[in-house]
Amino acid sequence: MIFCQLFEPLSSTYTYLLGCEETAQAILIDPVIVAIERDLGELSRLGLRLAYSLDTHIHADHITAALELKKRVGSKIAGPAIDRLPCVDVGIEEGRPFQLGAILLKPLHTPGHTDGHFAYVSDERVFTGDALLIEGCGRTDFQNGDAAVLYKSVHEKLFSLPDDCLVYPAHDYNKRHVSSIAQEKERNPRLGEGRTLEQFQGIMAGLNLPYPKFIDHAVPGNRQCGVCPADLPDKLAQYCAKMTDSQQG
Ligand SMILES: [Fe+2]
Repeated sequence: MIFCQLFEPLSSTYTYLLGCEETAQAILIDPVIVAIERDLGELSRLGLRLAYSLDTHIHADHITAALELKKRVGSKIAGPAIDRLPCVDVGIEEGRPFQLGAILLKPLHTPGHTDGHFAYVSDERVFTGDALLIEGCGRTDFQNGDAAVLYKSVHEKLFSLPDDCLVYPAHDYNKRHVSSIAQEKERNPRLGEGRTLEQFQGIMAGLNLPYPKFIDHAVPGNRQCGVCPADLPDKLAQYCAKMTDSQQG
């Protein structure tokens, strides 16, 4: 399998490109709209045709490139069926493997950051979205988030994967790229190191994080599979900058 990890610095998002060498088809996990030209460039450089975009969840910090990719190259939009988005072409469910040529993804419903959040296992890797970050996790105070539910998702679904399974998160804010299940069990200060459910709930309740600055625009836009809001304030224009450029030709 062809594999690339791509980083979008504005939202510190990792997008993953998975390519099948036999069929020359590809999947992009969590593509970001402002990085669409880069992603299309990578696909073309590798001689791959994008068959699907696949989001782990409805993002609050960036606009997904799913819809724009569909318009540009005809890729289908895959995403958690539980979110019931009318724009999704292929609804993903746990227990139903998602296959493209030699690429086989095993979807795991991992709610807690959002209620519809999914992680995807591919052989020795797991794409954990925001459910499990390197020595961290996504916040649980919006989008039907729930710390107790996230604790259960991570401990029962992700921490039951093999210890040497590589953890590829949807974000990192400290220039880290990859971890492993064993490393997160041992070092994650919120969910690992033997933390109890009560300790985790206390940690998440005490984070005192600011209100997410893009959430009110990103969530409605992502519920339409990646529509940039028309009324975006100037100070947030960079979240849709590349698309605006391309629309202007
Ligand atoms: Fe998120």
